[in-house]
Amino acid sequence: MQEIKPYSHLTDSKKKQVKNMFDTIAPAYDILNSVLSLGIDQRWRKKAISKIDKSTDPIQILDVATGTGDMAILAAKTFPNAMITGIDLSEGMLKVGVERIEKLKLQNQIQLQYGDCEELDFSNEKFDVAMASFGIRNFENLDAGLSNMYRVLKPGGKIIILEFSKPKSFPFKQIFHFYFKYILPLIGRLGSKDQKAYKYLYESVQQFPDYERFIAKLTQTGFTNCKFQSLSLGICCLYEGQK
Ligand SMILES: C[S@@+](CC[C@H](N)C(=O)[O-])C[C@H]1O[C@@H](n2cnc3c(N)ncnc32)[C@H](O)[C@@H]1O
Repeated sequence: MQEIKPYSHLTDSKKKQVKNMFDTIAPAYDILNSVLSLGIDQRWRKKAISKIDKSTDPIQILDVATGTGDMAILAAKTFPNAMITGIDLSEGMLKVGVERIEKLKLQNQIQLQYGDCEELDFSNEKFDVAMASFGIRNFENLDAGLSNMYRVLKPGGKIIILEFSKPKSFPFKQIFHFYFKYILPLIGRLGSKDQKAYKYLYESVQQFPDYERFIAKLTQTGFTNCKFQSLSLGICCLYEGQK
C-alpha cells in the first residue's frame, strides 16, 4: 500500500511530516474543524463518549492523538471522576489543548503530554478505555499503534475510535466527494496557511481501510466484540472493540 504523506515532495518520514503539519495548523485547527464540519463533529464525539461504560468509576482513560484535547475535555465533563491522559506528537496542538484545559479548570482531571502512540510509554493494562478521534489515519504504522493501545488496556477494557470514512450511497457519495476533494482543501488552505494539510486530509481518508477492513484490523490486533456504526451518511465511522 502506498504511503500517503502530507508533503509528498519531501523525503522526511510520515511521522515527522505529520508532526510538522499539525504544529503549523494548530492555531487554526479548532476553528477550522467547526467551520469545515459545520459543528457536526461535536455530535460524533458525543456519540463516541457515550460508548464508555458508566459503571467503571473512577475510570482511567487514554486519549491518543489527543490534539487540542477535544475528546479528553468531553470525557472529563461527562465523567467527573475520570482521570484522562492525552498524548500527541505535536507540541503545537498540545499547547493549544493545555491552554483550553486551564481555562476550563480541568487540569486536575486531564493531563496532556508528548507521546507517540506507536511506542506508548505506559505500563501494560493501565487504562479502562483507549480512544482516538481522527488520529489513527495519521499513524505511520497503524498496526503498531493499535497493538500499543491493546497492550495498555486492562482486560475487558474498551477501544473507541472515530475516523473519517467514505460515503457509499448515491448521490451523497458524489456530492460529498466533490466538497471533500475540491472545496475543503481550498478553505483549509486559506484558513490554516498550510498549502497541503487539507489535501492530505482528503488523500489519507481515501487510503484508510474503513468499515469492515478496519474491523478486520482490530480483530487481528486481538480485540473482540468489534463493531462499527456509520455516522452522517458515512462521512464518519465509530468503531468499538474490547480487550
Ligand atoms: C486530526 S488531529 C485529531 C486531534 C483530536 N483527536 C481531534 O479529534 O480533534 C490528529 C492528531 O494525531 C496526532 N498524531 C499523529 N500520529 C500520532 C502518533 N503516532 N502518536 C500520537 N499522536 C499522533 C497529530 O499530531 C494530530 O494532533
